[in-house]
Amino acid sequence: MIVLGIESSCDETAAALVQFDGGERIILAEEVLSQLEEHRPFGGIVPEVAARSHLDHLDSLIERVMQQTGIAYSDLAGVAATGGPGLIGGVLVGVMTAKAIASVAGVPFLAVNHLAGHALSARLVDDVEFPYLLLLVSGGHCQLLTVEGVDRYRRLGTTIDDALGEAFDKTAKMLGLPYPGGPALEQAAKTGDADRFDLPRPMKGREGCHFSFSGLKTAVRQTIDKLPDGPLSETDIADVSASFQKAAGDVLVDRTANAIQLFREKNPTGHTLVVAGGVAANSHIRTRLTELAKAEGMRFIAPPQKLCTDNAAMIAWAGIERLNEGLTDALDFAPRPRWPLDPDAPPVAYAGVKA
Ligand code: KG4
Ligand code: ZN
Repeated sequence: MIVLGIESSCDETAAALVQFDGGERIILAEEVLSQLEEHRPFGGIVPEVAARSHLDHLDSLIERVMQQTGIAYSDLAGVAATGGPGLIGGVLVGVMTAKAIASVAGVPFLAVNHLAGHALSARLVDDVEFPYLLLLVSGGHCQLLTVEGVDRYRRLGTTIDDALGEAFDKTAKMLGLPYPGGPALEQAAKTGDADRFDLPRPMKGREGCHFSFSGLKTAVRQTIDKLPDGPLSETDIADVSASFQKAAGDVLVDRTANAIQLFREKNPTGHTLVVAGGVAANSHIRTRLTELAKAEGMRFIAPPQKLCTDNAAMIAWAGIERLNEGLTDALDFAPRPRWPLDPDAPPVAYAGVKA
């Protein structure tokens, strides 16, 4: 079974072919085109620029993965595209393209929730049984969920304000680091003193497993303001970066430890912690979660870094998972700018939450 996956919900245009034979899972071909350079002058993602760029490049990326493998469209078991959540212009481009290919080739169309793509990516690279505990940390989301099945998620916690990736990006921007901030901040933190600045650990020690990062961001602003006027020194940048990263790690460990207890109460057979999403590419965070899982007697799975940030292999794989469950989508599927994994999760206290 071979599925074509398409990802276009943010600032990466991607196409991939993934094969599943009932046991082995193989990424046959994958192409990712980052729009980094197009958005860099703006210091963030411009939705119209993103949509146009997806439109300009998606067809040739798909053609490339098909040519590399010599597979015919009619040989596909299905065509999967991110159907949301994300920037609507980009999602439309991917969904329309996938529907066109599926209808011409006479194969099923699969609308994949982008977050499910991240959530299931662990099962593409490892044998992970349901249920498992998932920490999803990306640019738009910070959630703890029980993954009960391909289409069954129970949210345990989410952020009441910013996502962690957003906090990384904003902190990096304040430090004058290049966009995108996450990887640049991780690099800068390598030589920094993580104990120089005493930054807050929002929600740490509190019941439950919700997150908050806006206070941490404000504290970074105040910390920078207290430093001598003029350009920040390399040491200051490194020390703020390391202090921020350590604070973020402390919060994740505290909240995830609470989630492990909640998860275990409901799922006595579950024993795996999975981390996914762009921030899961961060080595400090991976190390901290590895230590936590070890202390808690949980198995820990973090997909390889290129599968943590947005990619189409995870969308193709989620499509395969849906096909295996007999879940396909009609050609009148409408893209969803908002698409929570757990629609029954109660709303959290503050506005601005991306559920
Ligand atoms: O999953 P993703 O590629 O896109 C979304 O679905 O949001 O995540 C992007 C986010 C950005 O905020 C980026 O700065 C962050 O992931 N990120 C990192 C690292 N690599 C990417 N954050 C911290 N450390 C990294 N190495
Ligand atoms: Zn993503």
